[in-house]
Amino acid sequence: MKKFIAALSTFVMLGSLASCGGASTSESSKESKPSTNTESKTDANTDESASSNTDESTSSGGKTVGIAMPTKSLERWNRDGEYLKSQFEAAGYTVELKYSDNDTNQQNNDIQGMIADKVDLLLIAAIDGNTLSQTLADAKDAGISVVAYDRLIMNTDAVSYYVSFDNYTVGKLQGEFVRDQLKLDSEAGPFNIEFTAGDPADNNAGYFFNGAYDALKEYIDAGKLNIPSGKVKFEQVATDKWSTDTALENMQNTLASYYSKDEQLDVALCSNDSTALGVAQAISSDYKGKNVPIVTGQDGDIANLKNIVDGKQSMTVYKNVSDEAGVTLEVSKAILSGQTPDGSLISSFTAEATYDTESYDNGVKVVPSYLLVPYVITKDNLDVLVDTGLYKWDSDNKYLESTAETT
Ligand code: BGC
Repeated sequence: MKKFIAALSTFVMLGSLASCGGASTSESSKESKPSTNTESKTDANTDESASSNTDESTSSGGKTVGIAMPTKSLERWNRDGEYLKSQFEAAGYTVELKYSDNDTNQQNNDIQGMIADKVDLLLIAAIDGNTLSQTLADAKDAGISVVAYDRLIMNTDAVSYYVSFDNYTVGKLQGEFVRDQLKLDSEAGPFNIEFTAGDPADNNAGYFFNGAYDALKEYIDAGKLNIPSGKVKFEQVATDKWSTDTALENMQNTLASYYSKDEQLDVALCSNDSTALGVAQAISSDYKGKNVPIVTGQDGDIANLKNIVDGKQSMTVYKNVSDEAGVTLEVSKAILSGQTPDGSLISSFTAEATYDTESYDNGVKVVPSYLLVPYVITKDNLDVLVDTGLYKWDSDNKYLESTAETT
Protein backbone atom coordinates (compact mmCIF):
# COMPACT_ATOMS: atom_id res chain seq x y z
CA MET A 1 0.00 0.00 0.00
CA LYS A 2 2.79 2.37 0.99
CA LYS A 3 4.64 1.81 -2.28
CA PHE A 4 1.40 2.25 -4.19
CA ILE A 5 0.80 5.61 -2.53
CA ALA A 6 4.36 6.70 -3.18
CA ALA A 7 4.02 5.76 -6.85
CA LEU A 8 0.62 7.38 -7.04
CA SER A 9 1.78 10.59 -5.46
CA THR A 10 4.67 10.83 -7.92
CA PHE A 11 2.11 10.34 -10.68
CA VAL A 12 -0.20 13.01 -9.28
CA MET A 13 2.79 15.27 -8.68
CA LEU A 14 3.80 15.11 -12.31
CA GLY A 15 0.49 16.65 -13.22
CA SER A 16 0.67 19.43 -10.68
CA LEU A 17 4.30 20.24 -11.39
CA ALA A 18 3.39 20.75 -15.02
CA SER A 19 1.67 23.96 -14.03
CA CYS A 20 4.44 25.03 -11.68
CA GLY A 21 5.24 28.67 -12.39
CA GLY A 22 8.46 30.65 -12.22
CA ALA A 23 9.57 33.54 -10.10
CA SER A 24 6.81 35.80 -11.30
CA THR A 25 4.08 33.83 -9.56
CA SER A 26 2.55 35.72 -6.69
CA GLU A 27 4.47 34.21 -3.85
CA SER A 28 2.28 35.14 -0.95
CA SER A 29 -0.94 33.89 -2.45
CA LYS A 30 -2.50 30.89 -0.84
CA GLU A 31 -1.57 28.11 -3.24
CA SER A 32 -4.32 25.78 -2.22
CA LYS A 33 -6.72 25.09 0.53
CA PRO A 34 -8.75 22.57 -1.33
CA SER A 35 -11.40 20.32 -0.14
CA THR A 36 -9.37 17.28 -1.12
CA ASN A 37 -12.12 15.62 -3.06
CA THR A 38 -13.39 18.63 -4.94
CA GLU A 39 -10.18 20.24 -6.10
CA SER A 40 -10.44 20.71 -9.83
CA LYS A 41 -7.59 19.21 -11.76
CA THR A 42 -7.27 19.32 -15.48
CA ASP A 43 -5.04 16.32 -15.88
CA ALA A 44 -6.03 12.73 -16.26
CA ASN A 45 -5.08 11.86 -12.70
CA THR A 46 -8.01 13.57 -11.04
CA ASP A 47 -10.01 10.46 -10.33
CA GLU A 48 -7.11 8.48 -8.94
CA SER A 49 -6.12 11.39 -6.76
CA ALA A 50 -9.63 11.72 -5.42
CA SER A 51 -10.05 8.04 -4.71
CA SER A 52 -6.71 7.94 -2.94
CA ASN A 53 -7.81 10.84 -0.80
CA THR A 54 -10.97 8.99 0.09
CA ASP A 55 -9.05 5.85 1.01
CA GLU A 56 -6.64 7.69 3.23
CA SER A 57 -8.90 10.30 4.74
CA THR A 58 -9.89 8.14 7.69
CA SER A 59 -6.28 8.12 8.97
CA SER A 60 -5.70 11.79 8.11
CA GLY A 61 -8.93 12.74 9.91
CA GLY A 62 -9.58 15.75 7.70
CA LYS A 63 -6.50 17.52 9.03
CA THR A 64 -4.80 20.50 7.40
CA VAL A 65 -1.08 20.92 6.95
CA GLY A 66 0.46 24.36 6.43
CA ILE A 67 3.58 24.37 4.28
CA ALA A 68 5.88 27.42 4.18
CA MET A 69 8.50 27.41 1.41
CA PRO A 70 11.11 30.18 1.04
CA THR A 71 10.74 31.28 -2.57
CA LYS A 72 9.85 30.24 -6.07
CA SER A 73 12.94 31.95 -7.45
CA LEU A 74 15.27 29.05 -6.56
CA GLU A 75 14.37 25.95 -8.54
CA ARG A 76 14.35 23.34 -5.85
CA TRP A 77 11.67 24.90 -3.62
CA ASN A 78 9.16 24.67 -6.44
CA ARG A 79 9.81 20.97 -6.54
CA ASP A 80 9.68 20.62 -2.74
CA GLY A 81 6.41 22.51 -2.51
CA GLU A 82 4.75 20.48 -5.20
CA TYR A 83 6.01 17.11 -3.97
CA LEU A 84 4.89 17.89 -0.44
CA LYS A 85 1.51 19.13 -1.59
CA SER A 86 0.82 16.17 -3.83
CA GLN A 87 2.03 13.58 -1.33
CA PHE A 88 0.08 15.05 1.59
CA GLU A 89 -3.05 15.41 -0.52
CA ALA A 90 -2.72 11.85 -1.74
CA ALA A 91 -2.63 10.82 1.93
CA GLY A 92 -5.90 12.65 2.53
CA TYR A 93 -4.68 15.88 4.10
CA THR A 94 -5.73 19.35 3.10
CA VAL A 95 -2.72 21.48 2.23
CA GLU A 96 -2.12 25.18 2.53
CA LEU A 97 1.11 26.01 0.66
CA LYS A 98 2.80 29.39 0.66
CA TYR A 99 5.99 30.79 -0.85
CA SER A 100 7.32 33.96 0.75
CA ASP A 101 9.53 35.56 -1.90
CA ASN A 102 12.70 35.15 0.21
CA ASP A 103 11.33 37.86 2.51
CA THR A 104 11.48 37.06 6.22
CA ASN A 105 8.65 39.46 7.16
CA GLN A 106 6.47 37.91 4.56
CA GLN A 107 7.25 34.41 5.78
CA ASN A 108 6.34 35.41 9.34
CA ASN A 109 3.07 36.86 8.04
CA ASP A 110 2.35 33.81 5.93
CA ILE A 111 2.90 31.49 8.88
CA GLN A 112 0.77 33.73 11.13
CA GLY A 113 -1.96 33.43 8.51
CA MET A 114 -1.75 29.64 8.65
CA ILE A 115 -1.88 29.71 12.46
CA ALA A 116 -5.01 31.88 12.19
CA ASP A 117 -6.42 29.34 9.74
CA LYS A 118 -5.93 26.71 12.45
CA VAL A 119 -3.75 24.32 10.50
CA ASP A 120 -2.93 21.16 12.43
CA LEU A 121 0.77 21.04 11.59
CA LEU A 122 3.34 23.43 10.13
CA LEU A 123 6.15 22.37 7.79
CA ILE A 124 8.60 25.20 7.40
CA ALA A 125 11.66 25.72 5.22
CA ALA A 126 12.87 28.91 6.87
CA ILE A 127 14.22 31.84 4.86
CA ASP A 128 16.15 32.98 7.91
CA GLY A 129 16.40 30.37 10.63
CA ASN A 130 16.73 33.07 13.29
CA THR A 131 13.65 35.17 12.68
CA LEU A 132 10.74 32.87 13.41
CA SER A 133 10.94 32.54 17.21
CA GLN A 134 7.94 34.72 18.07
CA THR A 135 5.76 33.28 15.33
CA LEU A 136 6.58 29.76 16.40
CA ALA A 137 5.85 30.63 20.03
CA ASP A 138 2.40 31.61 18.76
CA ALA A 139 2.12 28.29 16.92
CA LYS A 140 3.03 26.47 20.10
CA ASP A 141 0.42 28.41 22.09
CA ALA A 142 -2.12 27.38 19.49
CA GLY A 143 -1.08 23.73 19.92
CA ILE A 144 0.34 23.43 16.41
CA SER A 145 3.37 21.16 15.97
CA VAL A 146 6.20 22.40 13.78
CA VAL A 147 8.55 20.37 11.60
CA ALA A 148 11.62 22.17 10.24
CA TYR A 149 11.88 21.17 6.60
CA ASP A 150 15.38 21.03 5.09
CA ARG A 151 16.64 24.06 7.05
CA LEU A 152 16.87 24.03 10.83
CA ILE A 153 14.86 26.71 12.64
CA MET A 154 16.99 28.32 15.34
CA ASN A 155 16.31 29.70 18.83
CA THR A 156 12.95 28.14 19.51
CA ASP A 157 11.67 25.24 21.53
CA ALA A 158 8.58 25.09 19.32
CA VAL A 159 10.15 22.96 16.61
CA SER A 160 9.57 19.25 17.19
CA TYR A 161 11.50 17.57 14.39
CA TYR A 162 13.90 18.34 11.57
CA VAL A 163 13.80 16.54 8.22
CA SER A 164 16.74 17.17 5.91
CA PHE A 165 19.74 15.59 4.26
CA ASP A 166 23.06 15.07 5.95
CA ASN A 167 24.18 18.62 5.23
CA TYR A 168 27.79 18.24 6.34
CA THR A 169 28.11 15.23 4.04
CA VAL A 170 26.89 17.33 1.10
CA GLY A 171 29.94 19.59 1.51
CA LYS A 172 32.22 16.66 2.24
CA LEU A 173 31.21 15.00 -1.03
CA GLN A 174 32.11 18.20 -2.90
CA GLY A 175 35.51 18.41 -1.19
CA GLU A 176 36.25 14.73 -1.77
CA PHE A 177 35.29 15.09 -5.42
CA VAL A 178 37.89 17.86 -5.77
CA ARG A 179 40.49 15.77 -3.92
CA ASP A 180 39.91 12.84 -6.28
CA GLN A 181 39.81 14.91 -9.47
CA LEU A 182 43.08 16.68 -8.65
CA LYS A 183 44.60 13.49 -7.20
CA LEU A 184 45.69 15.50 -4.20
CA ASP A 185 47.08 12.46 -2.43
CA SER A 186 49.64 11.84 -5.17
CA GLU A 187 50.08 15.08 -7.15
CA ALA A 188 52.36 17.80 -5.80
CA GLY A 189 50.32 20.75 -7.02
CA PRO A 190 50.02 23.45 -5.98
CA PHE A 191 46.50 24.07 -7.28
CA ASN A 192 44.35 27.15 -6.84
CA ILE A 193 40.85 27.02 -5.37
CA GLU A 194 38.17 29.60 -4.58
CA PHE A 195 35.07 29.00 -2.45
CA THR A 196 31.54 30.26 -2.96
CA ALA A 197 29.22 29.51 -0.04
CA GLY A 198 25.53 30.03 0.66
CA ASP A 199 23.24 32.37 2.52
CA PRO A 200 24.42 33.17 6.06
CA ALA A 201 20.77 33.24 7.18
CA ASP A 202 20.40 29.58 6.16
CA ASN A 203 21.70 27.27 8.86
CA ASN A 204 22.57 24.67 6.21
CA ALA A 205 25.07 26.93 4.49
CA GLY A 206 27.70 26.64 7.23
CA TYR A 207 27.42 22.85 7.24
CA PHE A 208 27.98 22.70 3.48
CA PHE A 209 30.98 25.01 3.65
CA ASN A 210 32.53 23.25 6.64
CA GLY A 211 32.04 19.80 5.11
CA ALA A 212 33.86 20.88 1.95
CA TYR A 213 36.55 22.85 3.73
CA ASP A 214 37.28 20.08 6.22
CA ALA A 215 37.66 17.54 3.40
CA LEU A 216 40.30 19.79 1.81
CA LYS A 217 41.91 21.30 4.89
CA GLU A 218 44.90 18.98 5.05
CA TYR A 219 45.81 19.86 1.45
CA ILE A 220 45.31 23.58 2.10
CA ASP A 221 47.47 23.32 5.21
CA ALA A 222 50.13 21.42 3.27
CA GLY A 223 50.24 24.11 0.57
CA LYS A 224 48.98 21.77 -2.16
CA LEU A 225 45.86 23.85 -2.48
CA ASN A 226 46.17 27.61 -2.44
CA ILE A 227 43.42 30.19 -2.11
CA PRO A 228 44.84 33.26 -3.91
CA SER A 229 41.99 35.55 -2.80
CA GLY A 230 42.76 34.68 0.82
CA LYS A 231 39.02 34.20 1.39
CA VAL A 232 39.11 31.19 3.66
CA LYS A 233 36.26 31.95 6.03
CA PHE A 234 32.58 31.26 5.46
CA GLU A 235 31.64 34.92 6.07
CA GLN A 236 34.04 36.02 3.33
CA VAL A 237 32.51 33.79 0.68
CA ALA A 238 28.85 33.68 1.75
CA THR A 239 26.25 34.56 -0.89
CA ASP A 240 23.20 36.44 0.31
CA LYS A 241 19.97 34.58 -0.56
CA TRP A 242 21.96 32.04 -2.57
CA SER A 243 21.68 34.50 -5.45
CA THR A 244 23.06 33.51 -8.86
CA ASP A 245 23.69 37.17 -9.75
CA THR A 246 25.61 37.83 -6.54
CA ALA A 247 27.72 34.70 -7.06
CA LEU A 248 28.43 35.83 -10.63
CA GLU A 249 29.47 39.28 -9.50
CA ASN A 250 31.63 37.95 -6.65
CA MET A 251 33.45 35.56 -8.96
CA GLN A 252 33.97 38.29 -11.56
CA ASN A 253 35.57 40.42 -8.85
CA THR A 254 37.75 37.54 -7.68
CA LEU A 255 38.88 36.82 -11.24
CA ALA A 256 39.65 40.49 -11.88
CA SER A 257 41.60 40.87 -8.64
CA TYR A 258 43.51 37.59 -8.39
CA TYR A 259 43.49 35.90 -11.81
CA SER A 260 44.07 38.80 -14.20
CA LYS A 261 47.54 37.74 -15.38
CA ASP A 262 48.47 34.10 -15.89
CA GLU A 263 47.22 32.68 -12.59
CA GLN A 264 45.33 29.45 -13.06
CA LEU A 265 42.03 28.78 -11.31
CA ASP A 266 41.77 25.03 -10.81
CA VAL A 267 38.65 24.80 -8.64
CA ALA A 268 35.58 26.89 -7.95
CA LEU A 269 34.00 25.11 -5.03
CA CYS A 270 30.37 26.23 -4.98
CA SER A 271 28.00 25.08 -2.26
CA ASN A 272 24.97 24.71 -4.53
CA ASP A 273 23.65 24.93 -8.05
CA SER A 274 22.21 28.46 -7.95
CA THR A 275 25.62 29.85 -6.99
CA ALA A 276 27.43 27.47 -9.37
CA LEU A 277 25.34 28.85 -12.21
CA GLY A 278 26.65 32.37 -11.59
CA VAL A 279 30.20 31.21 -11.03
CA ALA A 280 30.24 29.15 -14.24
CA GLN A 281 28.95 32.18 -16.10
CA ALA A 282 31.72 34.36 -14.64
CA ILE A 283 34.30 31.78 -15.65
CA SER A 284 32.88 31.60 -19.21
CA SER A 285 32.94 35.36 -19.63
CA ASP A 286 35.87 36.58 -17.52
CA TYR A 287 38.38 33.80 -16.94
CA LYS A 288 41.46 34.11 -19.15
CA GLY A 289 43.08 30.74 -18.43
CA LYS A 290 43.11 27.85 -20.91
CA ASN A 291 42.10 25.14 -18.45
CA VAL A 292 38.54 24.27 -17.47
CA PRO A 293 38.21 24.77 -13.71
CA ILE A 294 36.37 22.18 -11.61
CA VAL A 295 33.01 23.62 -10.52
CA THR A 296 30.94 21.89 -7.85
CA GLY A 297 27.25 22.24 -7.06
CA GLN A 298 24.28 20.78 -5.26
CA ASP A 299 20.61 20.07 -6.12
CA GLY A 300 20.43 18.79 -9.69
CA ASP A 301 18.78 21.92 -11.08
CA ILE A 302 17.98 21.57 -14.78
CA ALA A 303 20.23 24.47 -15.91
CA ASN A 304 23.13 22.98 -13.96
CA LEU A 305 22.60 19.52 -15.39
CA LYS A 306 22.86 21.15 -18.81
CA ASN A 307 26.12 22.81 -17.72
CA ILE A 308 27.38 19.41 -16.58
CA VAL A 309 26.71 17.95 -20.03
CA ASP A 310 28.39 21.00 -21.61
CA GLY A 311 31.44 20.73 -19.35
CA LYS A 312 30.85 24.03 -17.53
CA GLN A 313 30.10 22.35 -14.20
CA SER A 314 31.78 19.18 -13.00
CA MET A 315 29.35 17.68 -10.52
CA THR A 316 26.30 18.26 -8.40
CA VAL A 317 25.36 16.70 -5.10
CA TYR A 318 21.90 15.33 -5.66
CA LYS A 319 19.25 15.31 -2.95
CA ASN A 320 16.04 13.56 -3.91
CA VAL A 321 13.48 16.02 -2.60
CA SER A 322 10.60 13.73 -3.49
CA ASP A 323 12.05 11.32 -0.93
CA GLU A 324 12.49 14.21 1.50
CA ALA A 325 8.78 14.97 1.11
CA GLY A 326 7.97 11.28 1.65
CA VAL A 327 9.93 11.14 4.91
CA THR A 328 8.28 14.39 6.02
CA LEU A 329 4.89 12.83 5.35
CA GLU A 330 5.68 9.81 7.54
CA VAL A 331 6.95 12.00 10.39
CA SER A 332 3.89 14.25 10.10
CA LYS A 333 1.47 11.33 10.01
CA ALA A 334 2.97 10.02 13.24
CA ILE A 335 2.79 13.43 14.96
CA LEU A 336 -0.77 14.04 13.78
CA SER A 337 -1.92 10.68 15.07
CA GLY A 338 -0.56 11.50 18.51
CA GLN A 339 2.62 9.44 18.41
CA THR A 340 6.11 10.59 19.33
CA PRO A 341 8.28 9.64 16.36
CA ASP A 342 11.72 8.19 17.09
CA GLY A 343 14.31 6.05 15.34
CA SER A 344 11.88 3.20 14.79
CA LEU A 345 9.94 5.33 12.31
CA ILE A 346 12.74 4.84 9.80
CA SER A 347 11.39 1.39 8.96
CA SER A 348 8.33 3.09 7.45
CA PHE A 349 10.43 5.16 5.01
CA THR A 350 10.87 4.14 1.40
CA ALA A 351 14.15 6.13 1.28
CA GLU A 352 17.37 5.58 3.20
CA ALA A 353 17.72 7.87 6.22
CA THR A 354 19.26 8.09 9.67
CA TYR A 355 17.78 9.32 12.94
CA ASP A 356 20.09 11.81 14.65
CA THR A 357 19.49 13.13 18.15
CA GLU A 358 22.85 14.86 18.59
CA SER A 359 23.93 17.03 15.68
CA TYR A 360 21.30 19.72 15.25
CA ASP A 361 21.29 22.05 18.24
CA ASN A 362 19.19 25.11 17.48
CA GLY A 363 20.45 27.10 20.45
CA VAL A 364 17.55 26.08 22.67
CA LYS A 365 17.32 22.33 22.13
CA VAL A 366 18.82 19.54 20.11
CA VAL A 367 16.18 18.90 17.48
CA PRO A 368 15.66 15.21 16.65
CA SER A 369 16.49 14.87 12.98
CA TYR A 370 15.73 12.52 10.11
CA LEU A 371 18.56 12.85 7.61
CA LEU A 372 18.43 11.48 4.08
CA VAL A 373 21.43 10.51 2.00
CA PRO A 374 22.90 12.76 -0.74
CA TYR A 375 25.00 11.46 -3.62
CA VAL A 376 27.30 12.69 -6.35
CA ILE A 377 26.16 13.15 -9.94
CA THR A 378 28.58 13.79 -12.82
CA LYS A 379 28.16 13.59 -16.58
CA ASP A 380 29.02 9.90 -16.31
CA ASN A 381 26.08 8.86 -14.14
CA LEU A 382 23.24 11.14 -15.19
CA ASP A 383 21.14 8.04 -15.78
CA VAL A 384 20.93 7.66 -12.01
CA LEU A 385 18.66 10.72 -12.11
CA VAL A 386 16.56 9.22 -14.88
CA ASP A 387 16.13 6.15 -12.69
CA THR A 388 14.45 8.28 -10.02
CA GLY A 389 11.60 8.89 -12.46
CA LEU A 390 11.93 12.64 -11.86
CA TYR A 391 14.15 13.38 -14.90
CA LYS A 392 14.26 12.17 -18.47
CA TRP A 393 16.46 12.67 -21.53
CA ASP A 394 15.25 15.28 -24.00
CA SER A 395 14.31 14.34 -27.55
CA ASP A 396 17.94 14.65 -28.71
CA ASN A 397 19.12 12.43 -25.86
CA LYS A 398 21.52 15.20 -24.91
CA TYR A 399 20.21 17.07 -21.87
CA LEU A 400 18.03 16.08 -18.96
CA GLU A 401 14.67 17.66 -18.37
CA SER A 402 12.14 17.24 -15.63
CA THR A 403 9.54 14.56 -16.25
CA ALA A 404 7.05 17.07 -14.90
CA GLU A 405 7.57 19.74 -17.54
CA THR A 406 6.10 17.90 -20.47
CA THR A 407 3.49 15.82 -18.72
C1 BGC B 1 19.18 23.76 0.56
C2 BGC B 1 19.91 23.58 -0.74
C3 BGC B 1 19.63 24.76 -1.66
C4 BGC B 1 19.80 26.10 -0.94
C5 BGC B 1 19.31 27.25 -1.78
C6 BGC B 1 19.53 25.10 1.16
O1 BGC B 1 18.92 25.25 2.39
O2 BGC B 1 19.50 22.70 1.43
O3 BGC B 1 19.50 22.38 -1.35
O4 BGC B 1 20.50 24.75 -2.73
O5 BGC B 1 19.08 26.10 0.27
O6 BGC B 1 18.00 27.08 -2.19
